Amino acid sequence: MTPKEGHKVPNPSTQSAPLRSLLFVPGDSEKKMTKAQGTQASGLILDLEDSVSADRTDTARRLVREYLLGHADRKRQQVWVRINALSTAMALPDLAAIVAGAPDGIMLPKVGSAQDVVALDHYLTALEQREGLALGSIRILPVVTETPEAMFTLNSYKNCSSRLAGLTWGAEDLSAALGAASNRVVGGEYEFTYQLARSLCLLGAHAAGVQAIETISTNFRDHEALLSEVRASRRAGFDGKMAIHPDQIDTINAGFAPSDLELAQARAIVQAFESAKLGAGAVQLDGRMLDKPHLVQALRMLASSAEANHG
Ligand code: COA
Ligand code: MG
Repeated sequence: MTPKEGHKVPNPSTQSAPLRSLLFVPGDSEKKMTKAQGTQASGLILDLEDSVSADRTDTARRLVREYLLGHADRKRQQVWVRINALSTAMALPDLAAIVAGAPDGIMLPKVGSAQDVVALDHYLTALEQREGLALGSIRILPVVTETPEAMFTLNSYKNCSSRLAGLTWGAEDLSAALGAASNRVVGGEYEFTYQLARSLCLLGAHAAGVQAIETISTNFRDHEALLSEVRASRRAGFDGKMAIHPDQIDTINAGFAPSDLELAQARAIVQAFESAKLGAGAVQLDGRMLDKPHLVQALRMLASSAEANHG
């Protein structure tokens, strides 16, 4: 989708703001919302979907709208909302209730393909117009592995919407859809289907040029396990991770932050290219060959560290 004439294009710096740690907060709990704002999460995801029981939906919509209106300054912490799936009758009333609060973005669960993102893009444009918001300002983060058919469309997201901020994945709804007794093998690792979902999400996000966001870890008391999971996510190419408990946030932020040694190595790589002969494609540093992918990776690490520190 190309932005139509008259659309205000969102500021590119907000567009790329890293979603390093995203904390889920049940939308019907004022207490948890208050607690969540005191964390160092890069963003909150106020939930209107699975963590809210059907009879609490109206309350949750009202509380989420009030929270958004009361937290207009989002420089330190973005505020996102997870709405119900577009296949339900709840999605449009969710949007109609909360867009006036100018959320930074909408998390869209149980998508079938990029077509769902395009549909949400259109709904948001209509509601932004109604509320006098900059058109295109509300971003979208779809959960791209929650239905079996979605698994076959992970290559559909490139250029689907200028609102697309990233892709994320989840194992729970997929295993429910498959009628699986469990999504884990003996020993606790994800069964192959869910490892595939994770990899396809990672590949789909990078193919689309957007952030790859790792799924939640449910065991919120084991910080050591969480830290090693976060480090593995970062090594694999994920940019951020979702959390379900405030105690997970500092560990996630720490796990995604490059170490001083990595930053020093990245600076040395950039320096080696800068001092090489003009246009040199490959250089050496301490007896190691470096070519373009090393430079791209080093520049990316330095840029994301600068954004995290100043953004
Ligand atoms: N956001 C904000 N605050 C939270 C929170 C969250 N996600 N999870 C827990 N808290 C608060 C609790 O209210 C409690 O506050 P208090 O100290 O003022 O009493 C404090 O953090 C400690 O919580 P704790 O007792 O360890 O856990 P709990 O039993 O209250 O809650 C869960 C456990 C799993 C129910 C809770 O973490 C939760 O609701 N998580 C989010 C669930 C969700 O959104 N799921 C959808 C996405 S998968
Ligand atoms: Mg779910």
